[in-house]
Amino acid sequence: MRSTRAVINLKAIRHNLSIVRQLASGVKVMAVVKADAYGHGIVQVANALSDENNSVDSIAVSCMDEALKLRESGIGLPIVLLEGFFSSEELLLAIRHNLQIVIHQQSQLEAVEKLTDLSDDVKLKLWLKLDSGMNRLGFSQALYQDAFNRLGALKYVESVNLMSHLACADDINNVFNREQIEAFNNVTKSLPGDRSMANSAGIVAWPESHYDWVRPGLILYGCSPLAGCTGQLHQLQPAMTLKSQLFVIRELCKGEPVGYGSAWQAKKMTRIGVIAIGYGDGYPRHAREGTPVWIGGKTYPLVGRVSMDMLTVDLGMEDKLEIGEPAILWGDNLPVETIAEFSDTIPYTLLCGVTSRVKFEWQA
Ligand SMILES: Cc1ncc(COP(=O)(O)O)c(C=O)c1O
Repeated sequence: MRSTRAVINLKAIRHNLSIVRQLASGVKVMAVVKADAYGHGIVQVANALSDENNSVDSIAVSCMDEALKLRESGIGLPIVLLEGFFSSEELLLAIRHNLQIVIHQQSQLEAVEKLTDLSDDVKLKLWLKLDSGMNRLGFSQALYQDAFNRLGALKYVESVNLMSHLACADDINNVFNREQIEAFNNVTKSLPGDRSMANSAGIVAWPESHYDWVRPGLILYGCSPLAGCTGQLHQLQPAMTLKSQLFVIRELCKGEPVGYGSAWQAKKMTRIGVIAIGYGDGYPRHAREGTPVWIGGKTYPLVGRVSMDMLTVDLGMEDKLEIGEPAILWGDNLPVETIAEFSDTIPYTLLCGVTSRVKFEWQA
């Protein structure tokens, strides 16, 4: 059987949560598990983060489907809808499932104001988003206070917390981070309610953005959010190991090509290893020549084009390797950040992009 697997180490995720708690000590944690927990399995990850001895304080998803999946699987933690609701029907659904809603634009504010016929026990917990400079979601600095007052005046609103999002936190030299933090401070300083701004990069690099709640995503999965770094720098452990195996080994003479387009030719006699994973599994097709693959305790360079179902590595002539040898594409011993760099992308896309053909195994 084709042994292509994504092994998800839930212990590593819990360990990474403890690193978040060290970095943002005394601050509440809203774990971001959108996009199937960055490809790690939303239900399994949410369960791992609900451990009664080491639970997060809430969970954030992007949309209703994700929230319902969690509720249906019995997750009782507070759930925050980061993109709010997309229709008034969805607003009612959010209320029914006791979801916390991010209000980020005028139409949502108006929809909340127009709610009628609610039972007396409805107590909405809202997050009001400030656009502190990212220009994507959120109320402008000029309109924020008014939106806050309007929501706060509604009898069925229990609390309005305050949030914003950093645009450039992964770049520790970027002055825009300070400007955004300052804008958030200025607008929210006289308002009651918890405040939240930091994503993973904010947690690592911008302590002044921690406030009352941090919102880690990538860091929980073991990756460094800082450009050019790996999770090891922050003592994180990779949560996903993508693996397969060597299923063909063949000798090539000098000058012989390998793969589509004959894009690579052997510079001298060598052995090529064929590994059963390709872009049909989520391995990046544009990974450059030389991208490392971990086999038998060391790395070998990717050569030739990545195909849909397989890729090829240059094994050289020296090492004793046999068909069936496990190969790690990223994870233990091989940071996904490194593969992302070789592929001109970011670890987020690689983790989210593992396809359903790959078998997932969760290790408690
Ligand atoms: C509003 C918000 N907060 C936090 C996060 C978590 O970001 P990261 O994965 O960089 O920690 C995201 C993810 O995109 C987000 O959209």
